[in-house]
Amino acid sequence: MEKIISLCKRRGFIFPGSEIYGGFANSWDFGPLGHLLKQNIKKAWWKFFVQERSDMVPMDTAIIMNPKVWEASGHLQNFSDLLVECKKCHHRFRSDHLLEAASAEPQYDKESVRSLADVVCPDCGGSLTEPKNFNLMFKTFIGTTEDTSTVAYLRPETAGGMFVNFKNVQGVTRRRLPFGIAQIGKNFRNEITPGNFIFRTREFEIGEMEYFINPKDWESIFEMWLGEIKRWWRDIMQVNMDNLVWHEIPDGERAHYSKRTVDIEYKYPFGVKELHGIAYRTDFDMKRHEEVSGQDLHYTDPETGEKLLPHVIEPTFGIERMLLVTLLEAYREEDAPTAEKGETEKRIVMKFPRHLAPIQVAILPLSKKKELSSVAEELANTLRKDFMVDYDETQSIGKRYRRQDEIGTPFCVTVDFESLEDKQVTVRERDSMKQERVAIGELKDYLKKQF
Ligand code: GAP
Repeated sequence: MEKIISLCKRRGFIFPGSEIYGGFANSWDFGPLGHLLKQNIKKAWWKFFVQERSDMVPMDTAIIMNPKVWEASGHLQNFSDLLVECKKCHHRFRSDHLLEAASAEPQYDKESVRSLADVVCPDCGGSLTEPKNFNLMFKTFIGTTEDTSTVAYLRPETAGGMFVNFKNVQGVTRRRLPFGIAQIGKNFRNEITPGNFIFRTREFEIGEMEYFINPKDWESIFEMWLGEIKRWWRDIMQVNMDNLVWHEIPDGERAHYSKRTVDIEYKYPFGVKELHGIAYRTDFDMKRHEEVSGQDLHYTDPETGEKLLPHVIEPTFGIERMLLVTLLEAYREEDAPTAEKGETEKRIVMKFPRHLAPIQVAILPLSKKKELSSVAEELANTLRKDFMVDYDETQSIGKRYRRQDEIGTPFCVTVDFESLEDKQVTVRERDSMKQERVAIGELKDYLKKQF
């Protein structure tokens, strides 16, 4: 993790938030490359789960909604974690995290750590307060007065916006069950213990689908989604599937309304933890929104005339967690040959799947001389219409290759003095480091084929 965090800062993927003011409690800013990587992950997600499917429609709903939405969903009453505070140093912890950490520590006897009474503050050894409920929603006020009548909340998930729009969307799109609504958007949770870089933060994006179904079909549709999720990780994100853990949440541990939940976990350097999930939420959400809004949210099948309250299967993905996994999967340290025959040096290379790489092509003129740079600049400008291009004419070519390896650029194109004669350039592929001469006139098509 330290190597990844340092590379992210050094190369402009992710910076600590508000850094010139000493940072700000686990907030992170996505730099030029981090922004591009995130965009590419979201684009790939959108293409796979929305554009390529005939049964999915997109939405973009409000972040601040009528508070009744959160009353109906249960967030106002139940979206809380148990919090304990150290009586001595006043540090605060999530009690489940403390219990989990304590049972892994050698000074505690695993069997004896059953309750918080057995645990002391991990920072100073002080005793802990009784746990109390702490609601994770960020509260704000609408308008010019700050009283209870103006209280509103920043959304903690995108789902609510899609449930309350079921009738609108079904009406205008005339979709028949099963069909889904998808959206990607920012969410806010006042986490007690954020941490592990971008794994747990107070603001983050979720890509989420609410898939509306007739309950008689739930088992086969759940399996269909599990298959799609596997395809996503294997074919699109190209992760090592051995690093994923498919955790079937057992009876008694699921949310009370869920008949089946699978957490897709990842073997992070800091332990096996949730990456994202899929849940069959029955008709809990639609029922609650009917009760609280007083509106009829039933659906009538145009063919059979059957009237029913749709049930929901919800695949949900944390965008930052997917980005963290993309960074972890891509990071490699390798021995690479130097210009000296037989010599090698360490290279750090981010082996992103090509379609996710923030920069796709780097144009590197071999010298800063005008006759070369004018050709190289023109080439870069032509390619910019189709690719994210980086242009770099500083330092030795070896150093420039290392820099592009570190940011995961799949192709480096060098323009040399021979190029002026034979109208060809050298294309170097990131992973194999193989080089090939390609005619300048054919370069765009050549690169398009590689992507
Ligand atoms: N509508 C269901 C829902 O919101 P969730 O498991 O609470 O489910 C969805 O959140 C996903 O968002 C998680 O699987 C995880 O990937 C991501 N996520 C949750 N809390 C997060 C946090 N504090 N920081 C970063 N990502 C988070």
